[in-house]
Amino acid sequence: MSEEQTRLKQLAADAAVDEVRSGMVVGLGYGSTALLFVRSLAKKVAAGELQGITGVACALAMETEARSLGLNVSSLDQHPVMDLTVDGADEVDPALNLIKGGGGALLREKVVAQASRREIIIVDESKLSEHLGDKWALPVEVVPFALRPVSEYVTSLGAEVKLRLLEDGKPLVTDQGNWIIDCNFGPMADPGTVARSLEGRAGLVEHGLFLGLASEVIVAASDGVRRIPR
Ligand code: A5P
Repeated sequence: MSEEQTRLKQLAADAAVDEVRSGMVVGLGYGSTALLFVRSLAKKVAAGELQGITGVACALAMETEARSLGLNVSSLDQHPVMDLTVDGADEVDPALNLIKGGGGALLREKVVAQASRREIIIVDESKLSEHLGDKWALPVEVVPFALRPVSEYVTSLGAEVKLRLLEDGKPLVTDQGNWIIDCNFGPMADPGTVARSLEGRAGLVEHGLFLGLASEVIVAASDGVRRIPR
């Protein structure tokens, strides 16, 4: 990631921190942009500018990080509704539909997004696409037992499917003990149809299409930060 991209992500993260108020339950997304948000949030809490903040993390790694920064982190059992969640995205289309899951946390991210009153997505301008799938294969979480049939099913829908591997050649294991297949559908004319075709298939746990879930997208570009409301 270039220094300029990090600077832009930080600008978007800081704009989202301005939306947090004392006493809120805040969903903490996952990925490099969400991490910048969590760091900025923790600084404000440590400085006493925000009080009574409770975080609910979308990934175990983020939970560890947030706690190490001094944030109070709780669970969905304790806090089933988030006032606000701030998360990144891999691609954002003009209707504010998203592809997420580049970091492998799409299932928890979607659970938390659906449990949030407001979902603010923070991105640098490189994430904007005319069509979802222009730049990014769609991550799909799959039960290891069902890898082959689910991969063959998604291939039959027209995607090129690859199991996501780590550097050591082993599959990336999600926080739920599942695997991720990256499914290249190419540009999606109708993401809703793709989403529906992936739902209700045994062994296919969840997909990274977030349709109608973002309340607002904060985009940092070289000429400034802009907000795209739903
Ligand atoms: C994590 O699983 C993803 O959904 C991230 O939100 C997404 O990959 C964006 O990541 P960056 O902020 O690192 O670009």
